[in-house]
Amino acid sequence: MRILIIGRGGREHAIVWKMAQSALKPELFIAPGNVGMKHITAQTGAPVTLVNLSEGETEKLRDFALSEHIDLTVVGPEAALADDIATVFAAAGLRIFAPTAAAARIETSKEFAKDLMRQYRIPTAEYRTFEDYDSAKAYLDRQGAPIVIKYDGLAAGKGVVVAMTAEEADNALKDMLLDNRFGKGKVVMEEFLQGPEFSLLTLVNGEQVVPLVIAQDHKRAYDGDKGPNTGGMGAYAPVPVIPQTQIDWAVEHIMKPTAKALKSEGCPFCGVLYGGLMLTKDGPKVIEFNARFGDPETEVVLPKLKSDLTQMMLDVLDNKDVTPEFHEEAFLGVVLAANGYPGSYTKNIPLNNPDALSQQVFCMGVKEENGQLFSNGGRVLIVVGKGNTLKEAQQDAYQGVAKMAHSDLFYRKDIGWQAV
Ligand code: AMP
Ligand code: GLY
Repeated sequence: MRILIIGRGGREHAIVWKMAQSALKPELFIAPGNVGMKHITAQTGAPVTLVNLSEGETEKLRDFALSEHIDLTVVGPEAALADDIATVFAAAGLRIFAPTAAAARIETSKEFAKDLMRQYRIPTAEYRTFEDYDSAKAYLDRQGAPIVIKYDGLAAGKGVVVAMTAEEADNALKDMLLDNRFGKGKVVMEEFLQGPEFSLLTLVNGEQVVPLVIAQDHKRAYDGDKGPNTGGMGAYAPVPVIPQTQIDWAVEHIMKPTAKALKSEGCPFCGVLYGGLMLTKDGPKVIEFNARFGDPETEVVLPKLKSDLTQMMLDVLDNKDVTPEFHEEAFLGVVLAANGYPGSYTKNIPLNNPDALSQQVFCMGVKEENGQLFSNGGRVLIVVGKGNTLKEAQQDAYQGVAKMAHSDLFYRKDIGWQAV
């Protein structure tokens, strides 16, 4: 079994670590991968090769997969999905666990996602889409705050403003529609919802939907859920504030109908369909969908998964029944980010060697130069603790974080606060 995994972050590090443990004894190729993955052979015995191709080089990746006789390709980042890597690989007869660009619009176009949910009655916030500032502003004047403003396109988790005042909302509209901060595009204006959030990752192929355990991300940069939205500052699983009955309801009334809707629309989904959900007083509602593994949710969900992920993906590709099993332990991950993130941040921060930690560490943005590790991105590392309870997992994680701390790095000290 020869597997190609595309991406370079903490999510991909966790995917590689998990897939490497398969009973199928796979040989793994990662494009481009990161320095942390080099240790996976020592951890698992599986051969791991980093391939010097980047996520956007779709044709070269296809040629590599053909010449290296790759049996299965797994894609981490959304940008590769938007480049339609799934269609390019399928056209070459290659098996790939990833949605086509058409199906990935569920993530890449907020308008597509919202219209699909409206048409198929999938519970989500009320919304309107605008292209020009004046009509968006007129709608804001009618609706007032709080209101949520979302850029309609990929903005690395930074295109969402939850505006508590009309002034904040107006500034966001000006930023997105007049100053074109993320490029020329549309905005979706949404009803403000309240309740605990959770991430429900499912493996999907057509109408088949296999749910994994839920996790909770921490999107805001600072303690107490303050500060700007980020790609995610930490996560944990399980999530005790969300009752199992609500998760089951979300699988039946949100995830399965969405998979079915995408099929009905002529763009069946294959890969990871991620529901970013909120448990409101009216039940679970969709905040957003992603067409890929979540980051950092993956870094806690995959350690909790007991079943063989590689085999699960192959079975889902064959539409065979899959019933995943999970470890009893709780897992909690804390992200160390470079000072300044998610704005412009400190670069090339020298790092202690995470190998010295007993905890699981996944590299999010790390590079090696002459044997020394340096940061190579805004989110740098995630330290994952485990324990019999979330409290223990939290203590375990923060013990590891203390060993990696650096004056140029910051981290939230309250990951898991809703649970412990
Ligand atoms: P998104 O990128 O769409 O997941 O949004 C980022 C974060 O903004 C979410 O995790 C929520 O915390 C918040 N958010 C998004 N949409 C809404 C909404 N309609 N009501 C309240 N908060 C929201
Ligand atoms: N953790 C949120 C995301 O992956 O988009």
